[in-house]
Amino acid sequence: MQAFWQNVLITGASSGLGRALAEACAAPGVVLHLSGRDAARLEEAAAACRAKGAEVQPRVIDVCDADAMAAWIQGAGRLDLVIANAGISAGTGGTTEPTAQTRLLFETNVTGVLNTALPALEVMAAQSPGADGLRGRIAVVSSVAAFVAAPGAPTYCATKAAVQRWAEALDATERKRGIRMHAICPGYVRTAMTARNKFPMPFLMDADEAARRTLAGLARGKTRIAYPWPTYMLARFAGALPISWRAAIFSRLPAKGDGNL
Ligand SMILES: NC(=O)c1ccc[n+]([C@@H]2O[C@H](COP(=O)([O-])OP(=O)(O)OC[C@H]3O[C@@H](n4cnc5c(N)ncnc54)[C@H](OP(=O)(O)O)[C@@H]3O)[C@@H](O)[C@H]2O)c1
Repeated sequence: MQAFWQNVLITGASSGLGRALAEACAAPGVVLHLSGRDAARLEEAAAACRAKGAEVQPRVIDVCDADAMAAWIQGAGRLDLVIANAGISAGTGGTTEPTAQTRLLFETNVTGVLNTALPALEVMAAQSPGADGLRGRIAVVSSVAAFVAAPGAPTYCATKAAVQRWAEALDATERKRGIRMHAICPGYVRTAMTARNKFPMPFLMDADEAARRTLAGLARGKTRIAYPWPTYMLARFAGALPISWRAAIFSRLPAKGDGNL
């Protein structure tokens, strides 16, 4: 993959899609700011990116820590591309979703995204436009789950819908000051997050392929980058069904539990 961005910051780069994105961006002349909570896995990801010639600045940091995130992002220097990727998933397991799980999902997937994107917007607004005429791009990793209120994963779907709507709506105004916002909406990707799923995952793809499609969509300037199209269409169709039909269909499907928390 051709490196389009010189100064890139990615949260959740210690695993899965975040790591694949980091490796796809890595090239000589590229500075990568990578975060995660697991120091050993983050260092492995950093080493893989250094092997491709990038300068890597890894940082062990929790996206839920607003002050630490702001300090990290404001101290990173110029940022051409920021990817708010860190996230967690969990479902009801067929019973009541625990209160603590609901709060943790919102805290990580919504507040954690804001803790990344809001300081990044400030940094980008203050920097001069780059070769592409933009001050910077911020990509928020949502999911095709944003388009379906799936009874098996109420909070996960809600968190992904929140950040997808926020990024897409904000893009209209932010582009006036030379900043682009993007909503990344992948279908099933083969990562630690999906490894524990005990249900069929149609059109499951490797993280490298998801990273390639994400970066290709960013390079084309698409506001919403949703893939693969059959999963996206299925999600849009399921989301458009009458609520009672959707409930009847989803009640026959297995629900994800809390195994990833
Ligand atoms: N896999 C899929 O099918 C799929 C589909 C659509 C969207 N997504 C989204 O893609 C993103 C990446 O998921 P993935 O599949 O790559 O899962 P993953 O392999 O489990 O990776 C999740 C990453 O997020 C980091 N993370 C989680 N909570 C964090 C926190 N509080 N602070 C800092 N970092 C945190 C993890 O860091 P540590 O491990 O170091 O804690 C890890 O690097 C998520 O937003 C997910 O919702 C995934």
